[in-house]
Amino acid sequence: MCFSHLSFLLIFSLLAPLYVKGVDWNNVPFEKNYAILWGKDNIRIINQSREVQLTLDPQSGSGFGSLHKYGSGSFRMRIKLPQKDSTAVVSTFYLISDDGPTRDEIDFEFLGGNKKRPYLLHTNIYTNGKGSREQRIRLWFDPTADFHDYTLIWNEKQLAFFVDNTPIRVFKNTRNKGGMYPTKAMKILATIWNSTWAGNGAPVNWKDGPFEAHYREFGINACQVQTTNIEECNSSRYWWNGAKFWELNTLQKQVYKNVRRKYLIYDFCTKMPRSPEC
Ligand SMILES: *[C@@H]1O[C@H](CO)[C@@H](O)[C@H](O)[C@H]1NC(C)=O
Ligand SMILES: *[C@@H]1O[C@H](CO)[C@@H](O)[C@H](O)[C@H]1NC(C)=O
Ligand SMILES: *[C@@H]1O[C@H](CO)[C@@H](O)[C@H](O)[C@H]1NC(C)=O
Repeated sequence: MCFSHLSFLLIFSLLAPLYVKGVDWNNVPFEKNYAILWGKDNIRIINQSREVQLTLDPQSGSGFGSLHKYGSGSFRMRIKLPQKDSTAVVSTFYLISDDGPTRDEIDFEFLGGNKKRPYLLHTNIYTNGKGSREQRIRLWFDPTADFHDYTLIWNEKQLAFFVDNTPIRVFKNTRNKGGMYPTKAMKILATIWNSTWAGNGAPVNWKDGPFEAHYREFGINACQVQTTNIEECNSSRYWWNGAKFWELNTLQKQVYKNVRRKYLIYDFCTKMPRSPEC
């Protein structure tokens, strides 16, 4: 292990947990906040509704979604990804508004891998149906071996994506400079499906199926909205809107820089360096 890798891991361990406040994520049954969306036969709700298993087989994928819409918050899920050769299998955790072609959307998409090709974590952001704000990283652990936290903190200032407590992406609100930034109430979704896009042209290896993604911790720490008006979700009553979450702290910035240096594979900013978000 080279020194830089070692120091990187040491710094990791110093990062404070993100979740000191709020609901007991661990102890909320699935049905309280979520419902099955599609692929009913490929969903198992297990461990007294504390875990959901989404299956992809040649017949169907599956997905679940939140009962309500949200306009800001700290969105987290603990996920264990499908094992073996999961080429072209996509497991997701994302936010999406309900207006189809003009939707806002914020994605975590896990693109399946195998012994030769590691899993990739693909993130993207859409505003009014316009996306192309992708970033891709490799992970520093095997995401199929155990559950890990995947978190998005969305407030008026920035979108911050975390893996466990490690920041992997920061997307600033640059609307005042003409940049795009999600402003619509969105539901939380989790799905498993297949796509040659995710396999980089290769098809699914069904011999290694069915593919199972496991999801845990169904507490939601976010601003629920009934309407499309999310202004109320900028209130300082919500901890994730506090100044502490307007930018990363010094240590987080240092770790984020390391993550980019060592694990970043693609960033849309290299293609569109003059985009206001870059
Ligand atoms: C069931 O869920 C609880 C709460 O999340 C967890 O602590 C426990 O380990 C789970 N049990 C199994 C067998 O997965
Ligand atoms: C996804 O799976 C379906 C069902 O087996 C298959 O028809 C389709 O070709 C697959 N698509 C990709 C892109 O692998
Ligand atoms: C959101 O709140 C922050 C501070 O609490 C304020 O600076 C900002 O102008 C607010 N934004 C909107 C759109 O109301």
